[in-house]
Amino acid sequence: MWRKVLGLKALENNNGSVSIRVNSDEIIFIAKVNNKLYAMSGVCSHLKCILGNISEDKKHVICPCHNAEFELDTGKMVAPPFIAKDAPMDKLGLKIYSVREENGFIELDLN
Ligand code: FES
Repeated sequence: MWRKVLGLKALENNNGSVSIRVNSDEIIFIAKVNNKLYAMSGVCSHLKCILGNISEDKKHVICPCHNAEFELDTGKMVAPPFIAKDAPMDKLGLKIYSVREENGFIELDLN
């Protein structure tokens, strides 16, 4: 079920990406990059820092704590944390969510 979570203006005013709490225990990272919306878990799978910054090539989100990188499209970890170079990246992907823009608001399908 789609749920309105954020005004589009709020996202744009925050340079196009933000992590927000949507349920009492769920934090979601939302980004609008090159006019496309992305949503994934906003909690890094390494040591649970809150995401993050968009990479220069605009394909990844970078964790601010130890620079792990996650693909915006898939949530897959594509670069390990610098303090854990041997981390099992294939097991550390983040859940992605369906996201859409509707009448000036960002909506998520949290199921
Ligand atoms: S907590 Fe994100 S890379 Fe360490």
